[in-house]
Amino acid sequence: MISTKDHVISRLIRSEDFISGEALSYELHISRAAVNTAVKTLRADGYNIESVTNKGYRLKGRPDQLTLGQIMADLPNGRCDTVHVLSKVDSTNKYLKELAFDGAPSGTVVISDCQTAGRGRLGRSFISPSGTGIYLSYLMRPTIRPELISTVTCWSAVAVADSISSVCGVNPSIKWVNDILINNMKICGILTEMSIEPEIGSISNVIIGIGINVNEIPSDFPEEIRSIASSIRYEGRFNDPILRSPIAAKLIQELDKINSSFPEAHDIYLDRYKSLCSTVGLDVSVVSAHNHTSEVPRTGKVLGLGDDFSLRVLFDDGHEESLHSGEVSIRRL
Ligand code: BTN
Repeated sequence: MISTKDHVISRLIRSEDFISGEALSYELHISRAAVNTAVKTLRADGYNIESVTNKGYRLKGRPDQLTLGQIMADLPNGRCDTVHVLSKVDSTNKYLKELAFDGAPSGTVVISDCQTAGRGRLGRSFISPSGTGIYLSYLMRPTIRPELISTVTCWSAVAVADSISSVCGVNPSIKWVNDILINNMKICGILTEMSIEPEIGSISNVIIGIGINVNEIPSDFPEEIRSIASSIRYEGRFNDPILRSPIAAKLIQELDKINSSFPEAHDIYLDRYKSLCSTVGLDVSVVSAHNHTSEVPRTGKVLGLGDDFSLRVLFDDGHEESLHSGEVSIRRL
């Protein structure tokens, strides 16, 4: 449900000039009193809204808040009808899975300001503090064979990297298979989860879960991951907090593109993935996804990427293999 406040702030963000209270009330089909109340509430929320007699309202500054109103400003009209913005949830993937089982349409999005039980790959948790990151899940219902679905995660990594570079002006790279890095520090992880129709073995739904560290500082991360995890703001050395809503809006648009072009646009996303992947040519150690806690890592050199987004590794014992999953660590020699 989109509130009056969301409509008003979205319209003010889109308008570069003053907009009168009368025009706002006419366009949004609300009373002048409702416009006044919304402006008052927005100011209390930290928005700097100028008001000048005979001219109306103009937005002079906005706080970094992940809200439907701010996200709406950067999306086509009507797109937000299936975007759910929450202030707190256990896991956006879990929440969206429930909506999916209740029949939510393809393209439904859940975004939260924080997660209390964010899920990571390989059964790990994903640190999701409030006020600093973007935790977003996107629902797809593709009619394809389940084996093809792992490539969706690679396509999504391209969507994340391209959204960040276009909104923030920094250029992330991809560490195979789906970690997004800036200055070799992880600023985003992706967890794709799939549900299968048990009787026929076809895909019922796919949930792409994306966690982006936007404004965190090192002390926001537990000590054990501080040497590998960071944020866009910290790595890009931005003085001011980065607005999260424009990144979320751009990411939704990039995921919409994937949703409408999967799997036909394979070659385009493969080329883009190859140009963003920084793992090729590096010395790595590898453990398989199912046995990552107990297995002795195998070391080798990455030769390149296969046409199915696999990682071609020449292991130190002379054996060459194409990996489709697993945990790869970069060895700094
Ligand atoms: C990883 O790097 O291990 C993957 C992390 C994925 C985290 C995101 S945050 C939004 C979505 N909801 C979750 O519970 N997990 C994913």
